[in-house]
Amino acid sequence: MKKVTVFHALLLSAMFLLPQAAFADKKEEAMGIVKTFATTLKGELEAAMKAGGPVKAIEVCSEKAPAIASELSRASGGFVRRVSLKLRNPSDMPDSWERAVLEYFDQQAAGGADLVKLGKGEMVTEGGQKYFRFMKAIPTAEVCLTCHGATLAPEVASALDKKYPHDVARGYRAGMVRGAFSVKLPMK
Ligand code: HEC
Repeated sequence: MKKVTVFHALLLSAMFLLPQAAFADKKEEAMGIVKTFATTLKGELEAAMKAGGPVKAIEVCSEKAPAIASELSRASGGFVRRVSLKLRNPSDMPDSWERAVLEYFDQQAAGGADLVKLGKGEMVTEGGQKYFRFMKAIPTAEVCLTCHGATLAPEVASALDKKYPHDVARGYRAGMVRGAFSVKLPMK
C-alpha cells in the first residue's frame, strides 16, 4: 500500500507537477522579458518625442524597437519580437500561433476585457523542439495615435510613407489592441 502511494506520488509529480513548475518558471521569465522590452521602448519613445518631435521619433522607433528585440533574444536564447495583424514593419508579421492569439486578443478586447492583463502562454512542440510561447497584448494609448491614429500630421504621414511604403498600422483608436509582444523560449 505504502509503495503504491510513493509510486503514485512520484508519478504524479513527474506527470503533473514538474511540467507545471517548468511552465510557471518560463512564464515568469517571459513576463520579465516583456516588461523589460515595454519599459525600455517606452522610455526611448518618450525621450525621442520630447527631444525631436514625432518625425525624429519615427527614426528612433525603427532603430530601437528591432535592436531591443534582438538584444533580448540574444540574452534569453529565445525569440523576442513584436507582432500585429496590421503591420508597419513587414518583419513583424505573425506566424500562425501568433495570429491565432492576436485574433483571440481582439475578441477579448471587443468583449470589454482589461487589455493590460491580456496575455497567453502555451507549451508547444515545433520541429521536434519544445518551446514555451507567450504573448502579451499591447494596448493603444493616446500617445500612440500620433503615428498610428486615423488622422496623422502631414509631416508624420510622409515620413512614414517614405520609410514604410506598405504601412497599414494606422486608423487605430485608444483602447484597441495595437499588437503584442511575443516571446518563444526553448525548453531544455
Ligand atoms: C513617433 C511615431 C510612433 C509613435 C508615437 C508610436 N509608434 Fe508604434 N511604430 C512606429 C514605427 C516607426 C514602427 C515600426 C518600427 C519598426 O520598424 O520596428 C512602429 C511599430 C509598432 C509596433 C510593431 C508592429 C508593426 O506594426 O510593425 C507596435 C506593436 C507599435 N508600434 C505599438 C505602438 C504603441 C502601443 C504606441 C504608443 C504607446 C506606439 N506604437 C507609438 C512609430 C510610432
